[in-house]
Amino acid sequence: MNKFQSFYKQVYKQGKLDILQTTKKQNFFKKPGRRANSLAIIGGALGDEGKGRIADELASKLLKNHSSLLFYRDNGGANAGHTVEFNQTKIVLHQLGAGVLQKNATVILGKEMVLHPQDLVTEIETVYQALNIKKLPADLMIDEMTFLCLDTHRAFEAVLKMRSTGSKGATGRGIAPAYADILYRHPLRMRDLAGDDWDKKLKTHYQLYQQLIAGCGFELAKIEVPNLKGELIKVGSYQQLLKRTTQAKKVLKKYIKPVYEYLAKCWTDKTPILAEKAQALGLDKRWGVYPDVTSSNCSFDGLLSSTEGIIDHDQLSVKAATIKATYTSSVGARVLPTIMDKQLAERIRKDANEYGATTGRPRDVVHIDLPMLSFLFKTNKVEELVMTHLDISYSDVPVKVCIAYKLNGKEVGYRPDQEYLNKVKPVYLELPPWDGNQVKNKKELKELPIEAQQYIAFISLSLGVRPFMITTGPKREQTIEC
Ligand code: IMP
Repeated sequence: MNKFQSFYKQVYKQGKLDILQTTKKQNFFKKPGRRANSLAIIGGALGDEGKGRIADELASKLLKNHSSLLFYRDNGGANAGHTVEFNQTKIVLHQLGAGVLQKNATVILGKEMVLHPQDLVTEIETVYQALNIKKLPADLMIDEMTFLCLDTHRAFEAVLKMRSTGSKGATGRGIAPAYADILYRHPLRMRDLAGDDWDKKLKTHYQLYQQLIAGCGFELAKIEVPNLKGELIKVGSYQQLLKRTTQAKKVLKKYIKPVYEYLAKCWTDKTPILAEKAQALGLDKRWGVYPDVTSSNCSFDGLLSSTEGIIDHDQLSVKAATIKATYTSSVGARVLPTIMDKQLAERIRKDANEYGATTGRPRDVVHIDLPMLSFLFKTNKVEELVMTHLDISYSDVPVKVCIAYKLNGKEVGYRPDQEYLNKVKPVYLELPPWDGNQVKNKKELKELPIEAQQYIAFISLSLGVRPFMITTGPKREQTIEC
């Protein structure tokens, strides 16, 4: 019997649900030996698990009990898409963290992000328009050390998409080339944009990309790249790019600052801290399946390096990963063994609106894969579980969960390698479903149908984490705090 089968036995045969009862709300924010009120939230699977909404809710919860909040983002850029509903308005955030919608919060866009200046300006303007305001609700600080992601990077990625398999699934936001510039040791940073010699620095950069792209047989100026709204614009000449980036600089300059001292002060004076990671554990280049991995550090340890040692992930009081309760969505070329029957996948896609927030692409829908999730949770030392979409369950369809892989008749574990995954065969358990409509307005775990309670207990035990939050629908009030 593998460990998942023994948890199945405990929960479904012996009726042990203690993990739901022993969870105590106040412990989450003040764990013994940890820095109080410090939380990090991460995508636990392959992205698009609804972290933005969870981060938004946690931020408002912390601000109910505290007069200030530090909201930190450390990775990714315009490839992320976080939908939050605020005052009856739906806002899709990309580079700004969800904390930007909260008064009394300070949002830091951290050193290891790759920010696209014009997209950031568009995003700020979108928030202004959606909320009919002229100033962001939160204070925004952009670390002067943060890296830039420019249209040159997007153009190079567009060229690579035609020539290399690795870039095919990319969001087109230039993320990999921007991170590659860091490895090549010639990145451009926010303080370069803010400085007086931006024109010179941009020229050197533009010429390099012009030559790289010419070497591949294309002309940089003529390449079309997507902006935040997905419209295609030509990169244009150096002068045209200089003009666009200089316009963005005028808006952004006031936000670009050194942040180290401020961060260190917040950590020692016990300001509540909420870190929202972008992308997900299964998209990390060390833990994910090529080519569908992104270039940033998607693990908790990225917080330590982006803050130069200040936000120590081992000290955090909450290290929560978010997954969709009954299925996993995935975009890209990866082929997972846990592929779902097409009809059920389509039903879920429609009911849960499984289309990319940044690209609008329909997402693949696969079964919950415990070997994969437990690998990701273990390698990243996740401690709490957030489950979204608990309402996606149909009383006539058992919830199928993969509990093992078989290879040549032997039980084997998950490894992030497509060739390996092509060979394994999933072993499933069929778990009793519940009626998704019946969980939509529930506020407490104990009010949920017994099948849903059993399921939450089983998944939490299997992943070695404590249930932390459950969402039962898209609205803020459709949340169960465990
Ligand atoms: P990139 O981040 O644009 O380089 O894309 C690399 C891979 O990560 C592609 O397979 C993308 O679809 C995936 N990816 C990047 N960001 C997200 C996200 O926020 N959700 C889901 N997939 C993502």
